[in-house]
Amino acid sequence: MLNNYCNKLNLDFEIDLKPLYDIQEIYKNRQRVDIITVTDIDKNLNEFLNKLNLGIRHAEVFHTPANGEIGIHSDTGSPDLAWTKINWVFGKPGHKTIWWEVKDRNKELKLQNLHNGPDYIPYEKEECFPIYEQEINSVCLINAGVPHSVSNPTDQSRWTLSYTIFDKKNNCILEYKDALEIFKNFM
Ligand SMILES: [Fe+2]
Repeated sequence: MLNNYCNKLNLDFEIDLKPLYDIQEIYKNRQRVDIITVTDIDKNLNEFLNKLNLGIRHAEVFHTPANGEIGIHSDTGSPDLAWTKINWVFGKPGHKTIWWEVKDRNKELKLQNLHNGPDYIPYEKEECFPIYEQEINSVCLINAGVPHSVSNPTDQSRWTLSYTIFDKKNNCILEYKDALEIFKNFM
């Protein structure tokens, strides 16, 4: 059963994980959340997306340390933009990603920006209530527009290799509802 937040993908190719391994070597002992831009765009993923008339807008690695969390945020500058990402997640079982609904949708948004990346919106826990959660241990199609957070209570780092997908038809980030249609044969 598909949902609006996270759906497992069945892909018939492997991606090169060396960019992730290189980053892990540098960041693995840090006790804080790290977001690292990846400059090597994966060849196999790029070829696969090309056939669907899609492309990779940017690639990042997210590091959630042991006993750490990534706070609630929307990856987009607008909570109504359901951005699509393809994420490979690696960690010790016990971590989870949680999606949240904002209680007051009329409240003014606090746009923020990290290292000249796209705007994102952080939320306090008190402003939201949880609507969905999933432990991700594979490659998934992620809705990064709906506010979400990561909890990693395990004793090991959790790593995400994350690709933001754009639609070549209009040069915009792929909306999640369109992604569900385009990727329906791979779920
Ligand atoms: Fe995110």
